Parts: sequence; structure tokens; C-alpha cells
Amino acid sequence: MKYRSVRGMNDILPAVISQWQVVEEKIRELMIRYRYHEIRPPLLEYTELFKRGIGEDSDLVGKEMYTFSDKRGRSLTLRPEATASVVRAYLEHNIDTKEPLQKLYYLGPMFRYEKPQKGRSRQFHQYGVEAIGSLDPALDVEVIDIAWALLEELGLSGLSLRLNSIGCRADFKGYRQKLKEYFATRLASICENCRQRYQTNPLRILDCKKEECRLHIQSAPASVDYLCSECSRHFSAVRNYLNQLNLTYVIDPHLVRGLDYYTRTVFELISSHLGAQDSLLGGGRYDDLVELLGGPSTPAVGFAGGMERLILVLKEAKGRVDRMARPDLFIAALGNESRSLVISLAQQLRRQNISLDIDYRSRSLRKQMTYANQINAQHLIVIGPDELASGIGNIKEMDSGRERKISLTVEGIQAAMEK
Ligand code: HAM
Repeated sequence: MKYRSVRGMNDILPAVISQWQVVEEKIRELMIRYRYHEIRPPLLEYTELFKRGIGEDSDLVGKEMYTFSDKRGRSLTLRPEATASVVRAYLEHNIDTKEPLQKLYYLGPMFRYEKPQKGRSRQFHQYGVEAIGSLDPALDVEVIDIAWALLEELGLSGLSLRLNSIGCRADFKGYRQKLKEYFATRLASICENCRQRYQTNPLRILDCKKEECRLHIQSAPASVDYLCSECSRHFSAVRNYLNQLNLTYVIDPHLVRGLDYYTRTVFELISSHLGAQDSLLGGGRYDDLVELLGGPSTPAVGFAGGMERLILVLKEAKGRVDRMARPDLFIAALGNESRSLVISLAQQLRRQNISLDIDYRSRSLRKQMTYANQINAQHLIVIGPDELASGIGNIKEMDSGRERKISLTVEGIQAAMEK
């Protein structure tokens, strides 16, 4: 093979595309119900945006970005996530002037130089929401509810919501100090990376997935014990709303998330079908990010999930991911004379919103029938010389085997398929 795709960057082939489309359509439909508007920022941004927004000592910025210089020597980065881009666009276009609370969503590719493995690639796709402009704890819960609704409506079960509050910047100071004291006596038994994190940002240690570090993380101080009274009130309001809406959660006292912009509420949704280390989606509040990127102080909350992981889990959990693959109808032609009627009917029915296929490879009637089965068509019509002469044919419902006489007109076929 002479040319291959770049490692970790996968083609999404026609054989699986309908799974993507089912999920994408569900997301778009859900966003209309929750009233989130789509935003499509570019894939490339100036590197500085991510350094500033996500944090220079995060793994994401430090190790995983695709960064290069353009022809004029400016440093550009393929976006590793979209929150920073959305906030940049929000500020650049003064989106908030019409409506101070902006509820936005996006779908699209992200790029991270990570080791490719199951559920992890270098080009992957995220669906995400960002609600910018309110500190209301009910908004944290709306965002979490969107995530639950999406996964449940796709037919997923076996999910668990992990929740924590890491407090505001002022709370970080006290908590960071406690973590430093705790890990000071354990430096010899944590990993090399975490020894570095101990110096730069001990909160990052809590995000380490290495066995030797997890052991110590389990009994490390919990951020909720160092919240100021306002953050504490916010967190209990979030929990109360979650209870009220029957959205079950587990408090994970060491959940911090890998990006530096988070404040207060953080959460992840985990599926039992993914490896223990990988979350289906994650998010939280980022009340300082708008200001950090040069705007006025503006609280915000959001989440993003990986499409590849969602589709993987849906397949393993036999969720409702394949239903789009079924065409409504296959029209088989017997003999050359009937072909022109088949072609006209196909064009008119497709324009009436019916998904259908016909034969383009001069196959025998038997082979056309086999193909109709293969593509799992819901109905079958065969048009041969007799049907052509009489204008009357049969429509077969493939699941039940039931056959009915119909007139071979657009209206006749439509009516039969509605019954
Ligand atoms: P994140 O946790 O870095 O958060 O990524 C969110 C999701 O993207 C993960 O839960 C996972 O499903 C998926 N994901 C991440 N990396 C990969 C990868 N290499 N391959 C496949 N899937 C991956 C964020 O990106 C934040 N911007 C989320 C957010 C939005 N927080 C507030 N608003």
C-alpha cells in the first residue's frame, strides 16, 4: 500500500456512516428542544488561545497539540477542543450583546497527539454544548440533563454520572496547599510525571491514571472540604436540582478534569462498556475563562463528548444506532421495458421523502431480490411486463411478508407504505 492515512486519523467509511448520522441527527434534534444554537469555529486557531485558555502545564497543551508555523512564522494549532474557540468567537463577535445568555453547541473534529487505542484517536469528533452568561446552578443541571437525555434517547444504559466541585480560584489556593502537604511524604512512590505536577500544579496529580498514583489519590484530601460558602451553596443547589430531576450521580471527591479552566462543578459520564479509564463525556463550569481571554467576567458551563466513543458504546450496548440503514423501498425491474417506469417512480418517490433504491447493474430479478434483502429494504415492488401493461402491481412488506395490490403511481405506492 503506497499511501495510508496519518496514524490515528481514521476514515469514516460508508459502511458505518449511518451510525454517525443517527447520532448527529439526534443531537441536532435535542438541541432544538433545549434551544441551543449551533456554532462552527474554524479548526485552526492561534496557539496562544489554547495555551492561555487550557493552561500551559496541562498534558493537553504541553504534550498533545498539533502545532506548526504558517508561512509567516505565526504559531497555529489544530484545535484540541472547542471551548476556547467558542469563547474566542463569543468575544470576537460580541455575540452576547443581543442576549446575555448564549446557549451554543458544536459538532466536529478535534486533534490530539495521543497514543491511538480503542476509543482514542488523534483526529476524533466531539459534540458539545457551551452555555455562556449565567451562574444559575439550574444551568449546570440543564447541561447535565442534555447529556443524560442524549444517551438515554439513543438507548444506552449502564451509565454513571460522576460529580464534584473544585471551587473557585480562591478555594484552589487552600486546596492546593493541602494537596502539597499530603503528597510531600509520598513523592517517592508516585510516578515521574506526578512529581513534576507536584511542582507545577498538584491538582493535576488527581487526574493521573497510573496504578501507583491512584493508590495515593484514593485517600487524598477532597476539594469539597475546601469550598468557600458561595461555592458550597452552589454545589448543594446543583445536587438538589439533580435529585429533583431524578438524575442520579455519584460524588467523586477527586474528579478534577484535565483542563485548567474549570471552576466549581465538574462532571463526567462513564459507560461500563468503555475501559475503566475513559469517559464518554465530560464538562463543568468555567467561570473565569471569558475574562481570562480578555472579556468581562462571565460565568459559563458546558460539556463535550467523543462521537467515536459514543458510537463504540452504542454498538456494544446494541443501542438504536442502525435504524437509519433501512431504506423504505426497493423497486426491482423485470425486463428492459419496465425500467423507464421504475426510473420515473424512483425519482418522484424520492422527492416525496421516500428512501429507496433500484438496480443499476443489470442484475437478474433473483439477484435484485437478494440485494433488496441485503440492504434490509422495508418494502419491495417488482415491475415486469404484466405490471407495466396493467398499471397494477404488488407491494411486499419485507418483515411480515404481507403483500398488497396497488396502483403503480406515486400516490398508490405512498398510500400503501403509509398503511
Ligand atoms: P475532554 O474531557 O478533554 O473535555 O474531552 C471530552 C470528551 O472528548 C472525552 O470525554 C472523550 O469522550 C472525548 N475525547 C477526548 N480525547 C479523545 C481522543 N483522543 N479520542 C477520542 N475521544 C476523545 C473537553 O474537551 C472540554 N472542552 C469539554 C467541555 C466543554 N468542558 C466545558 N465545556
